[in-house]
Amino acid sequence: MTRIYYFSGTGNSYWSARKLAEKFGDAELFSISREIKQPHIRIEADATVFLFPAYAYGIPGMVRRFLEKAEIRVDYIAALVSYGSSPGGALAEVRRVLGRKKLKLNYGGRIPAVENYIPIFGAQKAALQEKRLAMQAAATEEAAAAILSRKGNRILTFRPFSGFVSALFRFACPGMDRLFRVSAACNACGLCVRICPAGAIAMGGSGPVFQKKCEQCQACLNFCPSRAISFGRLKPDTERYHHPEVTLGELFE
Ligand SMILES: Cc1cc2nc3c(=O)[nH]c(=O)nc-3n(C[C@H](O)[C@H](O)[C@H](O)COP(=O)(O)O)c2cc1C
Ligand code: SF4
Ligand code: SF4
Repeated sequence: MTRIYYFSGTGNSYWSARKLAEKFGDAELFSISREIKQPHIRIEADATVFLFPAYAYGIPGMVRRFLEKAEIRVDYIAALVSYGSSPGGALAEVRRVLGRKKLKLNYGGRIPAVENYIPIFGAQKAALQEKRLAMQAAATEEAAAAILSRKGNRILTFRPFSGFVSALFRFACPGMDRLFRVSAACNACGLCVRICPAGAIAMGGSGPVFQKKCEQCQACLNFCPSRAISFGRLKPDTERYHHPEVTLGELFE
């Protein structure tokens, strides 16, 4: 049996995780943001796959904390990173975290996907999105075949620049709640509260209030039906993005 653990803001990583589960047949899917709340996490299976987005050339803080916390008793460990342009040292970070627990990362794979950090990079054009969705599908197929055949590969852990950028991002993340703004278009529907994987949004009297637990996953501002959430320089008329084949219900906490 294979256990697949995913973290996903806008559905890219979830989409690949779901595809893997379909291919494997005997697999179970678990949300990292839900599982991390357990007092003790024990992963026992023939194989396990961790699937998550690249954040600042590294891995999301919650994924790192999950890997550190989990007791992993598995013969074969794979990690797949979805990314918008370059995942940097994300897989190296996984290998280092597992290595400290005397665990081996057997296989690391990269899954190109649509960029979702729209406050920084804007929305990708429709044609580019189409192209990257096709690239994601092909890379997911390839990774599924590799994992099914228990393929191994070696990931270099010496990635000092990526390690530095990732650590800086993790340090800055909790303070980024200050950069969120909510416009008068908010109708207090509560969707952002339900979709936030970090439990970082509370509903106040006049709309959502952001707390210092944000992982920067971009789910709230991309899924808000009124485009009421902005972050940094993000404008209300900037196109929002989420994976077109993933429903809100699949990502709700
Ligand atoms: C905070 C943040 C940082 C990101 N950093 C990177 C990065 O360093 N390299 C990259 O290629 N993509 C980066 N991205 C893009 C995402 O990794 C990519 O769009 C991913 O597929 C999103 O997955 P999800 O939909 O499962 O959340 C970043 C996105 C966010 C939100
Ligand atoms: S999803 Fe948008 S409209 Fe709904 S409560 Fe959140 S900010 Fe307001
Ligand atoms: S506040 Fe928004 S960006 Fe931050 S973790 Fe929650 S959903 Fe993601």
